[in-house]
Order: sequence, then structure tokens, then C-alpha cells
Amino acid sequence: MVNMRLKGNVVIVTGAGGGIGSATVKLFLAEGAKVVAADWNEVVLEQLANNLQHQANLICMTVDVSKRESVQQLIRQTCEAFGKVDVLINNAGITNDAMLKNMTTEQFESVIQVNLTGVFNSTQEAATHMVGQGHGKIINTTSVSGVYGNVGQTNYAAAKAGVIGMTKTWAKELGRKNINVNAVAPGFIETPMVKKMPDHIITRMESTIPLGRLGQPEDIAKAYLFLASDDANYINGHVLHVDGAILM
Ligand SMILES: NC(=O)c1ccc[n+]([C@@H]2O[C@H](COP(=O)([O-])OP(=O)(O)OC[C@H]3O[C@@H](n4cnc5c(N)ncnc54)[C@H](O)[C@@H]3O)[C@@H](O)[C@H]2O)c1
Repeated sequence: MVNMRLKGNVVIVTGAGGGIGSATVKLFLAEGAKVVAADWNEVVLEQLANNLQHQANLICMTVDVSKRESVQQLIRQTCEAFGKVDVLINNAGITNDAMLKNMTTEQFESVIQVNLTGVFNSTQEAATHMVGQGHGKIINTTSVSGVYGNVGQTNYAAAKAGVIGMTKTWAKELGRKNINVNAVAPGFIETPMVKKMPDHIITRMESTIPLGRLGQPEDIAKAYLFLASDDANYINGHVLHVDGAILM
């Protein structure tokens, strides 16, 4: 019999309708998890649900992680439906690139609001619940941009670097409560977020990756799975780079 690594676990995936999110939902369902797929885009959630018909273990919910009340509702509805929250994957994210001289305050703040405050909102609400139940796993999504910086991404790099800081802080604050907090740092992954970049930039990027190709959404989903599983019970405060060694 196949060993299901998440059997009985309740997992919330934010940004679930996107490239990495939907690959994660599929993999986690196959590994026996009960999954709450959360996204602010109803259309992509509907597409996901249609692709995964007859899934008793899947619930799709609209949420805007940048809005506190919306996240509170997500946690409340998850508990009503499945009784607990074992794993939170803070995967929702946006880009809104511009060079420093051109970046507007609105552009800066929009990315901070989703990619940094959104992770804070979701984690604070979920962690309160996890402390009460005595266990949990929180997995944040940072980026190579947050580790090394990236041209045109002042806002994104600031938010993703902040996510690393929060990951390490929460690993220290929540470790004794039996809650592991880790992060995954994807390189360049073939999803709608990257596909909207100009072709020549993508080609140039590919040439700098030692593995010679962009990553696939499933590469990140598998890293999330490892950190969510019992195999990672003694891993805490770690940033797992999944990037083909694009930068070392
Ligand atoms: N694709 C890459 O190369 C790459 C690289 C590094 C990091 N990442 C990170 O991985 C994560 C997933 O990215 P992806 O490539 O799958 O992008 P994507 O654009 O395909 O998916 C992101 C999803 O997040 C959702 N979302 C955005 N704002 C939201 C909000 N406020 N509330 C709820 N949902 C929201 C979007 O609707 C979308 O479905 C993001 O955090 C991103 O920053 C991606």
C-alpha cells in the first residue's frame, strides 16, 4: 500500500489557484490531506475545483490574505469544516515590478500588503489555533529575490526578505509550542507569475541556472510536502532553496 505522508492532516494553502498553489493542492490531496484551497481569485479557484471533481477532501474558499477579517473567516470556516488546522502554507503572492526611480508608493505598498502583511495575518490567526491544539507546521514562501535582491523588485525583495525574518522569529517563538516554522525559497518557476516576464529575460535567466532550466510548480510542491510531513519534524527556522542553484 502507498504510504500517504499527510493522511488525516488538515492543510490550508493560500494562493491555491496559482501555478505553485494548484500543484500543491493536487499533491497534498494525493498524499491523503484534507485541503482548504484559498485564493482571492474566484475564477482560478473554480478552475481548480473543476479539475479536481469528486474530491471530498477539498474545500475552496475565497480569501484576501491582506485583510485581517478575511483571514479570520478562513481559519474559522476551516475549523468548522475539518475541526483543526495542522499545516498552513503561506503561498499567496504578487509582483508589481519597477525600477527604484519609477516605483510609486502605491506599487510598493501593494506588494508589502499581500506578500508581507498577508503572511503575518495568516500566521497570527493560524498560530493562535495551533497553540491551542498543541501542534502545527507553518511554511512560508520567500524567493531568491528576498535572499539576494533583484533588479526592479524593491517591493518584492523587501517583502520576501521580511518573510525570512518572520520565519526565523516565529521558529524561536513557536518552537516550544510544538509548531515548526520554515520557508521555501523558489528560484524561477514556470508559473503565470514568471510567464508574464518578457521572453528574452526568461531566456537570459535560464542560461544562468546551473541545472539549465526553469523549475516546475511540482518542484516547489514537493518541498512544501517534505516540510509539512513528519520527515521534517526536527527542522525549524530553515530556508529551503529550490532554485537549480541559480545563485550561490
Ligand atoms: N514563480 C516563481 O518563479 C516564484 C519565484 C519565487 C517565489 N515565488 C512565490 O511563490 C508563490 C506562488 O507563486 P506562483 O508563481 O504560483 O504565482 P501565481 O501568480 O501563479 O499564483 C499566486 C496566487 O496567489 C493569489 N493571490 C494573490 N494575492 C492574493 C491575496 N491577497 N489573497 C489570496 N490570494 C492571493 C493569486 O490569485 C494567485 O492565484 C508566491 O508567494 C510567489 O511570490 C514564485
